[in-house]
Amino acid sequence: MASAASWTSYGGHGDAEDVRGLWSGNTGTLDSISLFAKALPWRFGAGALLTLALMAPRAPRTPRTSPTSASPARPRGTVTRGTTNPNRLRRMDRWIAAVHGAALRRAADPLAVDLGYGAAPWTAVELLLRLRTAAPRARVVGIEIDPARVEAARPYEREGLSFLHGGFEVPLPARPVLIRAANVLRQYDEGEVAAAWELLCARLAPGGLLVEGTCDEIGRRHVWVALGAQGPRTVTFAARLASLERPSDLAERLPKALIHRNVPGEPVHAFLRDFDRAWAAAAPYASYGARQRWIRAVRELRADWPVVDGATRWRQGEVTVEWGALAPRGGGG
Ligand SMILES: C[S@@+](CC[C@H](N)C(=O)[O-])C[C@H]1O[C@@H](n2cnc3c(N)ncnc32)[C@H](O)[C@@H]1O
Repeated sequence: MASAASWTSYGGHGDAEDVRGLWSGNTGTLDSISLFAKALPWRFGAGALLTLALMAPRAPRTPRTSPTSASPARPRGTVTRGTTNPNRLRRMDRWIAAVHGAALRRAADPLAVDLGYGAAPWTAVELLLRLRTAAPRARVVGIEIDPARVEAARPYEREGLSFLHGGFEVPLPARPVLIRAANVLRQYDEGEVAAAWELLCARLAPGGLLVEGTCDEIGRRHVWVALGAQGPRTVTFAARLASLERPSDLAERLPKALIHRNVPGEPVHAFLRDFDRAWAAAAPYASYGARQRWIRAVRELRADWPVVDGATRWRQGEVTVEWGALAPRGGGG
């Protein structure tokens, strides 16, 4: 068993998408896949079973010396806590597949990077599965700055999925169409964000997207920034609406560039305040369900804030706003 792993029970949430385990080990053999299977609620669905099937470890391989392993002597960044969780990033994955799927489909090499996948490779496996629903030729490289975590993930490599030691320099010979970095910058200082974004954006293929954000342990609350080669474009808020008391509950999951700016005088604070007001005004719609209330609140919010998406995404418990409207005063990010 993976002795370094600690599994925490999450009973009683009633979210069909939740998984009741939390992996916070440093490294390990990942023999805990069977534990993962037992931890899945019966209603978790075929998608999770497919993930499990894909995650059956392969026979040990000899260490790789392919050109893609040619990482620099010292990857850019710092090893941080490896906490991850199966299905944690589903909201981000689905949004990426929806908004960036066409770009991946068009690409000659639809390469995506899961940067900082953590102590177990689940988020990389799931990213591949979800991207392939939109772009069947997509491939994913999981990049981790902790070499032990890369070695632990290698038995799970398969067609379209590989793992590599590296950092913000993204040491790949090809430029990715997507870089996703979830719950990575959270553990850095706010002052380090701009340089990390710059390094990552510089590695993108033309038309590529960097998605960087934060979520809670089981993926019910999520906020991410999407960036192109020219810098930040949008901020997306995504939640399991049934367990959301008010939109500002998402404040604790703001990405590093914004989390310290949720104070009076900063745009993101004003946005969350207005969103809470719109949510309160939409209370009568709660009798039709939290989703109808969210849609109503976002429609009202749109009068004052540059919401860039529409009802199809709002129905998913999302809303996406132009970065420029929420960017910290005096720059940042
Ligand atoms: C909290 S885990 C996040 C795991 C997964 N992305 C998730 O959201 O569940 C953060 C991981 O990012 C890795 N990391 C931190 N800085 C990095 C960098 N510059 N390049 C690659 N990985 C990095 C850490 O070593 C750690 O394993």
